[in-house]
Amino acid sequence: MTVIFDYLYESISPLKHFIRLNFVGNRKHNTATPPVVGVAIVATRRWLIFLHFPPGLQGVSTDLLRANYFKYIIGERMSEPTENGILNVGHVAKRLTAEEIDKMKAQDSRLVSEFRANQLERDAKKHWDLFYKRNDTRFFKDRHWTTREFDELLGGVGSQNVLLEVGCGVGNFVYPLIEDGLKYSKIFSCDLSTRAIELLKSHTLFDPETMKAFQTDVTLENCFSVIDCTVDIATLIFVLSSIHPDKFHKVAENLYNILGSGGILLFRDYGLYDMAQLRFKPGHKISENLYMRQDGTRSYYFSTEEVKNLFESVGFQTLNCGYVQRRTVNLKENIDVPRIFVQAKFKKS
Ligand SMILES: C[S@@+](CC[C@H](N)C(=O)[O-])C[C@H]1O[C@@H](n2cnc3c(N)ncnc32)[C@H](O)[C@@H]1O
Repeated sequence: MTVIFDYLYESISPLKHFIRLNFVGNRKHNTATPPVVGVAIVATRRWLIFLHFPPGLQGVSTDLLRANYFKYIIGERMSEPTENGILNVGHVAKRLTAEEIDKMKAQDSRLVSEFRANQLERDAKKHWDLFYKRNDTRFFKDRHWTTREFDELLGGVGSQNVLLEVGCGVGNFVYPLIEDGLKYSKIFSCDLSTRAIELLKSHTLFDPETMKAFQTDVTLENCFSVIDCTVDIATLIFVLSSIHPDKFHKVAENLYNILGSGGILLFRDYGLYDMAQLRFKPGHKISENLYMRQDGTRSYYFSTEEVKNLFESVGFQTLNCGYVQRRTVNLKENIDVPRIFVQAKFKKS
């Protein structure tokens, strides 16, 4: 089968694009789909091709199995061999070494079971509440870089200057802005975790006159029902990665709907092949680029194309979207590691 496929695949170059698009690029992340067994027929003008799908295994995400099977039979073709024969896998910000490719392959050797993956989805709020119970306000560092990267935060977007921060945590994004003296007519901060909202509200700079903090799940319809005015700037900073990919579209749609015309969405999150992704051991991968952390929270790693396509699919115009490379430095713990993030700005026209 593989031999026939190899031959056909090499023979028909437009088919390569088709296969990537339909079986690899657009594969679904739904861990609850029934096991897939069977054959797909791909017809081109000159060829009729049979693709064999692997049987689903009990307790393992079948979508992922399917994706990996395709990677097995066509994956090598997606990566260009280099002169010394080592595969060239990566993107503009990162080329994987042979060792890193092996690490990624090892992650596929033991996946999070479908049962556990569904449980993680059901208990997402519980895990974030426990996270903030354990870490209080100590985990995330204040984000002092935001005005440097997103000058829209300095003002000038919309007539009211209303800010909405989605997945605000305990306020590491918003309080540095207030400390810097930035003025917004209203700041809405929301998070899935009730505990995070309580902590944010207990900050000395919390001002109930201009700030409204509330618990919500941004993947749900009407998640912003408490917002009673048009929003000029919305932020999604390291939040989408903790949400299941099946729900990304709804999140993007909700953000589009809450912004006023000309409103801006500011985005930063983990980039594909970030060192944190490469570090996951077997037993942590849920589906393609989605992982379970030790504490039950999840983390997804984005390509720029994916982020751009997602927000454009709900009507946003992309102002910019790219990988940014930074370093995480902790002198006390002697840590200095390179990081890859995706940073983007979108506009509601
Ligand atoms: C990695 S933390 C980032 C917190 C904050 N944005 C920051 O940069 O410090 C991710 C946050 O997203 C929140 N979150 C996860 N899923 C969410 C959802 N469905 N709706 C709203 N917030 C969510 C979590 O509770 C958590 O506070």
